[in-house]
Parts: sequence; C-alpha cells; structure tokens
Amino acid sequence: MTGQDPARPGLAPARPVPTRDHRRAVRVRLAALRADLLGTQRRLARTPGGVVRFRVLHRAFTLVASAPAIQHVLVANAPAYRRSRQHDNLALTIGYGLICSDGAVWRRQRRLAQPIFNRELLARVVDVTAGRTEELLDRWERAREHGEPVEIVAQMRELTMGVIAQALFGEDLPAPANVFTDTVDVALEVAIRRNILPVTLPVWVPTRLHRRLRRCRRAVDRYVYQRIDERLRDDDGRQDILAALIRGYGDQACRSRRELRDQVVTLFFAGFETTATALAWTWLLLDREEAVADRLHVELAQVLGGRAPTVEDLAALPYTHQILQESMRIYPPVYTLTRRAAVADRIDGVDVRRGDSVILPIHAAQCSAVLWDAPDEFRPQRFAPGRLTRAQRHAYAPFGAGARKCLGAGFATVEMATVLAVVAQRVRLRLIEGHPVAVSATVTQYPTHGLAMRVERAAAGDRS
Ligand code: HEM
Repeated sequence: MTGQDPARPGLAPARPVPTRDHRRAVRVRLAALRADLLGTQRRLARTPGGVVRFRVLHRAFTLVASAPAIQHVLVANAPAYRRSRQHDNLALTIGYGLICSDGAVWRRQRRLAQPIFNRELLARVVDVTAGRTEELLDRWERAREHGEPVEIVAQMRELTMGVIAQALFGEDLPAPANVFTDTVDVALEVAIRRNILPVTLPVWVPTRLHRRLRRCRRAVDRYVYQRIDERLRDDDGRQDILAALIRGYGDQACRSRRELRDQVVTLFFAGFETTATALAWTWLLLDREEAVADRLHVELAQVLGGRAPTVEDLAALPYTHQILQESMRIYPPVYTLTRRAAVADRIDGVDVRRGDSVILPIHAAQCSAVLWDAPDEFRPQRFAPGRLTRAQRHAYAPFGAGARKCLGAGFATVEMATVLAVVAQRVRLRLIEGHPVAVSATVTQYPTHGLAMRVERAAAGDRS
C-alpha cells in the first residue's frame, strides 16, 4: 500500500473520477486497493459531492469525504454510526478499551478516563518530554560529530514510547523494549490484512503472523498485569495514569483487571505511534520549507531564548502549533476513520444501508482542492486565528471529531510542541540527498523507507 508520487507521497496522479450514481456502487478492484490504498481513496473522494458507494468483491462501503458529510457522521448523526469491523480487528491485540469499545461500555470507560487527562498530566508530559528530548539531542550531537545520519522515524518512536511509558506506568519500559514496538507492528499488520482481505483465518490458526501476534500479546500482558497487580496491592500515592485509572474503578478495580489491561494497552498503542509519525512528517516538511523553519526559530528564540518550554510557555508559541496543525493536515497519522452504519441513513442523497462500512478518508478531505488553496503546500499560516472557513474546520479532523474525538489530543499536542521547541532550538534536520520518500498506510500513514536525516547545528542566531 505505497503511494505513487515521489514528489508528494500519498497523492495519486489525477485519473478520471467516477461519476455519481446513487443506485449503483462503483466497483473497486481488491488489487488496486492493496497496491495503493491512499490513491484509490483520493480518487473516490473526488466524486462530485464527495459521498460515494463502492464495492470491493462482495462487500459494500460508503466513502464520505465532503466536509458536511464528515460532520454528519462524526457529530450530527453520530449515534447512527458504531465501531466497525476494523475496530474488531484492532481489538485482537489491544482489546476493547476506549478505541474499540462502544455503547454503554465506552461511555463508562470515557467517563472514567477523561478526568485523568487534565492540566496536571499535561504539565508532567511537557517536563518528561523536554528531559527525554535533551537526552536524544546529546546522542544526536555525537552522530553529528561523526557525520552519521539519524533515522528519524525510529528515533521519534523511541522518544514518544518513552514518554507514554512514563505517563502510564511512571517508569521506563524494561529492556528490550522492542517487544512493545513489535506488538504495535504486528497489531497493525494483522488489522490491515483483515481489513482488506475478503476471507480471513481465525487467529488460533497457527500461521507465522498469528504465532507472532500471540507471542507479543503474551509478553505485553505479562508486563501490564504485573503493573496492575502492584498497584492493586498498594498504589503508594503514584501519579501515573494506571494508578489514577485504578482509583477511578474504585472497588470494581479487582474485578476489572481485564478491562484495565485493555485500557492501558489501548492508551499505550494510541499514544506513541501516531505522535511519532506526526513528528517525523513535521521534520520532513520543515526541511523542505526553509522559510517556515526560519519563522519557527524566531518564535522559539523570542519566547524561550534557548531553554526548554513549560506547559505555560506553550500557549505563547502559536506558530509552533500552526506548524503541527498544518503537518497533520498534509499527513494525518490516522488517515482514515471507519464506522459501521447501525441504522439506514441518507447522506447527501446517497443511501447508506444498515450494516454498511463507512469510510472517512480524512487525508483526502484535508487535501481536497475544492476546500484548500494549494493543498499540497506546507503553509502553517492557514491555521492563524480566524483563517479557516467553516467547511475547512469541518473537514479537518486529525484527532477525529464529536464525542469520540481523541482523548489524547491535548497530551499529543503538548508533547509534539515540546519536542519541536527543544529540538529546533539546537539543531536543524536535513533529509539525506537521494533518500527515497514514500508513504505506507496501515492504521497510520508513515514514511515507507524511514527518514534518514543529517543533524546540523541551528545557526547561533536561532538560539539568541
Ligand atoms: C498525533 C497524535 C495522535 C493522533 C493523530 C490521534 C488521532 C486519533 C483519532 C483520529 C482518534 C479518533 C478515532 C475515531 O473517531 O475512530 C483518536 C482516538 C483516541 N485516541 Fe488519539 N491520536 C493521537 C494521540 C493520542 C495519544 C497521545 C493518546 C493517549 C495518551 C490517544 C488516545 C486516544 C484514545 C483513548 C482514543 C479513543 C477515544 C474514544 O473513542 O473515546 N491518542 N485518536
């Protein structure tokens, strides 16, 4: 599932657009979807009106790409749309925590978790992130001295995994931490295969992938259940998210070990891969757009003068935030949202039947030429206060929208802004000449070949 256009990975070359026909679904070949998922979705999204039924083999989907239709599904008529088959595929690894649960269970879980994501947590996230980013920069300094490139996707993953582990458990993950990254990789692979393939084997069938899935799940469960049991015995006034969750479950906590496990694995899973890819894409875009990087450096120098930010400082860095918003417009890590229609509905004249899979290609809506000027250009000032039109606000949903909007949006935002502020004051990252850039899309979209980048010292003026 790789993008085709090396200049603007993920953007498929223009091809004829299917005409809008409310009665017949557009046929999409499975091979086309597998070869270029993002490009196929973009082409379908160009259907006049932005809502189109399509079929892959015997399965029917409705693609919803216009701003009002996205709002309809996520906000106005949200109760009609439930979790999808894609969520059940993800639940094979992460269980039925906040991302995959639905209905009354989801409401209860969200009520318990929401208060934990408060300002106090965000302040801790900023401090932990700043400390870890400084450590990373010390390592990059050695790479710079030796003239060695750094692999930014892996480095951002390691950084954000460290931050979420500290936030969840108040400790670093045990070495080797790669069982956790392996688990995410295998979860994504299992999920994406099952999302696309018409026939899937039960996970107890011992294929190589299923055996890997079970091995990873066992290792992660062992670690997570140990942490849960420690806190159930004595939480020792711990400040981590897990301890707060257990306190929230009160006298139900002992009976809810399995649900606690699902909640924690869900937060861990949701909390680092997305943030890491958003940061990786941001470094690439900043390297491509010198003027934006210069303006970022000026803002950071004026507000921070070389020091790391606190959570209070972040409010004084509007341009830094606009950069992150624009980066997630061009490369939303969660590029597509999915739902299942719980009842029949009609969206902009297109019938949705009960049980249909509904696909919201956020990446296509956020780069639609109908809504955005020069949609492929990296222009953070689009997000300056009061600039977005109503339709743009409705189409822009890197964190989703409505009741199921990302619980960690604030967490991710302060984390990413801190990384940007600390790194950009010390160094600039330059893509190694000739390094190929393409997009792969599983549950998130990420640079297929990673991003090998050279570390350069930021000019002296950047820190003054
Ligand atoms: C740049 C980083 C992130 C992006 C782009 C992102 C994106 C999203 C999106 C699009 C959704 C909505 C999915 C849907 O409607 O089907 C979502 C849900 C969620 N995210 Fe994030 N996320 C990020 C970071 C985080 C972090 C750091 C955490 C936790 C620490 C987190 C926890 C969650 C949870 C628990 C949900 C489910 C919310 C619910 O359904 O009630 N996310 N995220």
